[in-house]
Parts: sequence; C-alpha cells; structure tokens
Amino acid sequence: MSATRQGLTHMGAYRQDGRFNVTACVDPDAGARDAFQRAWNIPQGYDDLDGAMRAEGSFDVVSLCSPSPLHAAHLRQIITHSPRAIFCEKPLTGDVDLSRQLIDACARRGILLCVNHLRRWDNVLADHIAELGRGERFGKIRSVTALYNKGLMNNGSHMADLLLWLFDDLVVVDAPFSTADYSVSDPTVSAILRSSDGTPIFLTPGNAGDFSVFELQFVCERGVVSFEDGCRKIRVRSCIPDPDFAGYTGLDGGETFQSGLNAALRNAVANIYDAVQGHGVLASTGESALRAEMLCRAIHLKNAENHRGSA
Ligand SMILES: NC(=O)c1ccc[n+]([C@@H]2O[C@H](COP(=O)([O-])OP(=O)(O)OC[C@H]3O[C@@H](n4cnc5c(N)ncnc54)[C@H](O)[C@@H]3O)[C@@H](O)[C@H]2O)c1
Repeated sequence: MSATRQGLTHMGAYRQDGRFNVTACVDPDAGARDAFQRAWNIPQGYDDLDGAMRAEGSFDVVSLCSPSPLHAAHLRQIITHSPRAIFCEKPLTGDVDLSRQLIDACARRGILLCVNHLRRWDNVLADHIAELGRGERFGKIRSVTALYNKGLMNNGSHMADLLLWLFDDLVVVDAPFSTADYSVSDPTVSAILRSSDGTPIFLTPGNAGDFSVFELQFVCERGVVSFEDGCRKIRVRSCIPDPDFAGYTGLDGGETFQSGLNAALRNAVANIYDAVQGHGVLASTGESALRAEMLCRAIHLKNAENHRGSA
C-alpha cells in the first residue's frame, strides 16, 4: 500500500505518526480480523469489545470504526473503561439525543471525544475556509451550492459539519426532495439553508448509485471558489473584465490546487496525541459533530413536514 493510501486509514495514520503503539484490535469477523492483524502486525485480536477491554486492562486511545448503527452501543461500552481519548468514525450516533448523552458521559469521565470529520484536519482547506470567512480576497459570499449523496446522516453530516465550520449558525428554510439512494432510513435530502447573515445555501443531491460526489461552490462578490472531487481539489476563479463585451465582468480560467486531504488523518491522530498530552484542543469533537447531527435532523424534520403537507 502506498504511503498516501496508508495514511487514509486510522491504522495507517497511527503508524505514520509513530507515537502510538497499537496493541489490539476487535472484529467479530474472524477473516477480517486475521487479515487486519497480519497486515499491520497487531499482536492481539478479539471478537468483542468487552473481551478486549477485560483482557488488555486499559487503552489510552480507542478508534471506533464499526458500522454506524453500532456506534452508540460501542461508545457506551468503551466509556465504561475510561480511555483517555476515543476517535469515533462519523456519524457519532446519528441520533442527537443519544449523542448528547454519550458526549456528557465522556465529559464526566474526562474522556476526549474526537469524531472523524476528516476535512477539519486539512490545513489547506482550513486556510481557504478561513479566507472565505474573512472575505478579504473574494468579498461577500453570495451563495453556496453543496453537492452530496449517499445519505444525509452518512455523508451529509460531513457537509453539515463543513458548512457549520464556516457559518456559525444555519436555519433550514426548506427541504423539498429526498431520495433513498443509500438507505431508506437515511435518505439523501435536498435543502435550502440560510446563514445568520442571510447567505443562501443549497444542498443539492446526487444519486450514490451513479457516482460518489461531495463538492461545494462558493459564489462570491469577486470570484468563485470550488471545493471539488471530495474536496481534494480547490479551484479558484477571479473576476476579470470580459474580453469580448466592454463594461461586463466575467471570471478568469482559474487555478486548481491540491488540498491537504491526504494528510488529514495523520494530522487528526497527531491532534489526538497532543490533546491527550494536554497540548491544544481537538479540531473535531463530539460537540461539533453533534451540531452537524442537529442540522441533519432539522433537515429531516423539514422534509418530513413537507411530505405530510403533500399527503
Ligand atoms: N470519515 C469518513 O470519511 C468515512 C468514510 C468511510 C466510512 N466511514 C465510517 O466508518 C464506519 C465503518 O464503515 P465501513 O464502511 O468500514 O463499515 P463495514 O461494514 O465495512 O465495517 C467495518 C468493520 O467493522 C466490523 N464490525 C462489524 N461488527 C462489529 C462489532 N460488533 N465490533 C467490532 N467490529 C465490527 C466489520 O466486520 C468490518 O470489518 C462507519 O461509521 C462509516 O460511516 C467514515
């Protein structure tokens, strides 16, 4: 596996960081567990979490990468053993009440809860988001189009988290359409949102059966900034006088940069290491993930309201 691909997994990121000693893994699927242990040279493997916790005594950090519907039960189990930090895959639980309870339980035990909203650790993306927020280069954001698929809570929670990173507060104006392109219980929902300063944001669905998509386009006063290809690429177009029509302003051909997404998971585990040592704060926490889940729930509720209205 290439070093870049390796760094895209929790395990690869721990190894690349070099300051973590991964002593055990848990997977009830014996084949998957054995393959994982062999691939990464992990000394101990267990078929259930409690067995691992009993046998190993304690862990400083637990990575939770089980299927999303199991997160809440697994978090409850992990919390009783009080590791110093939990690195949980997104969504935290997908249920805002459960997430709230588990965040509070972590806080009571002094456990750092980190949620893998990966883009929070992309330093290049972070610079562009900060710049968009300041508005120095491109001016005011006129509108945002956010394209996603594969479930509002599943992938849309990444989008909600990214939007809440830039805009402190978002109101759901409407959520007219939904399609079960991934799961009936977690449809991909279209929505119109409004920021506290009145910026319109359009959540536009694709269908996961066609291809994966996760992109944003920020139309600003003095140009257009696009995060493309899952946010791996950042495209920036600036206003120029139209070459053909006097007095009109258009956009230049633009420039495309690589973001820092490939390094994000390595940055995440480094952030966890430092936070456990008492240096710095986590870039993505239970609280920030809960805000994303709350926004997703508000969109779901608005969509359900529309459907009730049209029944
Ligand atoms: N942050 C991201 O961008 C991103 C990307 C992909 C997946 N994810 C998240 O990662 C998680 C796992 O997704 P996946 O597609 O790898 O799922 P998956 O269904 O492939 O399961 C991952 C592993 O968990 C194991 N597992 C099943 N039950 C278990 C149990 N009771 N205890 C321990 N392990 C168990 C499975 O055997 C499998 O090896 C999900 O929460 C998903 O949302 C996040």
